[in-house]
Amino acid sequence: MDMSTVLEVIDVWKSFDTLEVLKGISFEVNEGEVKVIFGPSGSGKSTLLRCINMLDPPHQGEILLRGESLTDPSADINKLRSRIGMVFQSFNLFAHMKAIDNVAIGPRKVLGLSKEDALNRAAAALELVKMSDRSHHYPAELSGGQQQRVGIARAMAMEPDVILFDEPTSALDPELIGEVLQVMLDIAKTGTTMVVVTHEMGFARAVASEMIFMDEGVIVERGTPQHFFAGAESPRAMKFLQRLEVLYGQADE
Ligand SMILES: Nc1ncnc2c1ncn2[C@@H]1O[C@H](COP(=O)(O)OP(=O)(O)O)[C@@H](O)[C@H]1O
Ligand SMILES: [Mg+2]
Repeated sequence: MDMSTVLEVIDVWKSFDTLEVLKGISFEVNEGEVKVIFGPSGSGKSTLLRCINMLDPPHQGEILLRGESLTDPSADINKLRSRIGMVFQSFNLFAHMKAIDNVAIGPRKVLGLSKEDALNRAAAALELVKMSDRSHHYPAELSGGQQQRVGIARAMAMEPDVILFDEPTSALDPELIGEVLQVMLDIAKTGTTMVVVTHEMGFARAVASEMIFMDEGVIVERGTPQHFFAGAESPRAMKFLQRLEVLYGQADE
């Protein structure tokens, strides 16, 4: 590990009863990098993200955040977890709270900021996702795309070391996907360290430092976007990319 290594995933294994879901996953994420993870449904992508933030601890292997182990039994999990942002497919906003309060609650309750500081931070995060004009709306008064932008602001307001995204646009109507991807591109370009599970290959092509193709709990192939779009090496990745192209069109469209 050098100074710029933010996250290390080392030989992570995870099973549910007899079902082996992750079978020795390893990768590193450096400061400012965007890693895109993709692969078929059921390949273990969500489980991997849940292992990284210890919502579902791995059975074997190690997770290090700036060199500090989350998997060590003596780790202060809550403290370390507060440095890992998470953006879910299903937004997970508090329905009874306005957008600004959804964003401020983490800085206030978890980081212990004063109410004023937490609200200031929340306002800045909402500005980043272009939601300042909706900050006093409740989630039900927002479109799915707007709710997800609040979800991203909520993660950003914690100023985490890394943000994990689990298919952040896959629950959205097609016409709302673009605004969320644009916000993600914007924050990627500000140097936010991100691990993004997504099948949006246009996003991957634009900002991924590396793409990781997973299938059946293993990393089958990894490389730059240029590598994958010039033609994957493994038949499984090739077939999957072809299928995505049929579903979503080419990445540069
Ligand atoms: N809590 C759980 N209990 C039992 N099986 C699970 C659980 N979570 C995930 N799985 C199984 O693990 C496999 C990988 O799931 P998941 O990580 O959600 O894949 P992906 O996100 O790539 O679609 C699937 O077969 C799924 O049914
Ligand atoms: Mg998933």
